[in-house]
Amino acid sequence: MSRKIKNLPPSAGYDLYANFYDKKLAFLDSFEQFQLLPNLGNIIGKKILDVGAGTGRLSIRLAEKGAAVTAMDVSEEMLGVLNTKIKVKDEIPVPFATGKLELAGMTIAVADAENLPFPDNSFDIVIAAFLIVHLKNPKIFFNEAYRVLKPNGLLAITNINQKTPPELKTEKGKIIIKSYYHRPEKIVSDLESLAFSIQKNILIKDKDVWINQIIIAEK
Ligand SMILES: C[S@@+](CC[C@H](N)C(=O)[O-])C[C@H]1O[C@@H](n2cnc3c(N)ncnc32)[C@H](O)[C@@H]1O
Repeated sequence: MSRKIKNLPPSAGYDLYANFYDKKLAFLDSFEQFQLLPNLGNIIGKKILDVGAGTGRLSIRLAEKGAAVTAMDVSEEMLGVLNTKIKVKDEIPVPFATGKLELAGMTIAVADAENLPFPDNSFDIVIAAFLIVHLKNPKIFFNEAYRVLKPNGLLAITNINQKTPPELKTEKGKIIIKSYYHRPEKIVSDLESLAFSIQKNILIKDKDVWINQIIIAEK
């Protein structure tokens, strides 16, 4: 008899899936086709908030390039995996022989994208990759991102074209994690209604179908 598939909120779902997540990193990269980070310009010394940072797929790359990164997520277990990969040190990042990294200025925080525990005007860049698919109303997060960004700061997001959440195998059986489909035009209009100005709006396509939207918007 097959076990029932649990439909879980992101914090519980990603807590269960954390140990499996990193097997999919190359798959996730393929949706961005290396067009997300190069569009941020020079990030040396920049204060970056990675919202929904997960196991650090982007946070680690950003810190390696010299940014001061705050990696934030609702899932403690995802951040726990990130924590095993880094050793915080007051120096420029240096790869360890063990494969671990020493990272300068990496801060880890458990918090919700809809209620960012940071002061106004405190980050140069807010980034959120594969996050808004888990938010029913991304505008609440966009509003928070606008608040914590410095004037002229950048918000960089990806919006995956996912109408049906995938089944994920975990040690406790199959789960799906609550997800929402967002039309690209709606994301743009939500951002513009908050006074963001859209710098880049890239639709990555597979044949003729968009698979991921990358937006860079300026406060
Ligand atoms: C698909 S993973 C993406 C992780 C990472 N950004 C990447 O690109 O590999 C989505 C992440 O968003 C987190 N998340 C979902 N809803 C969230 C929320 N409301 N606030 C903060 N993080 C959230 C999940 O826990 C998960 O780690």
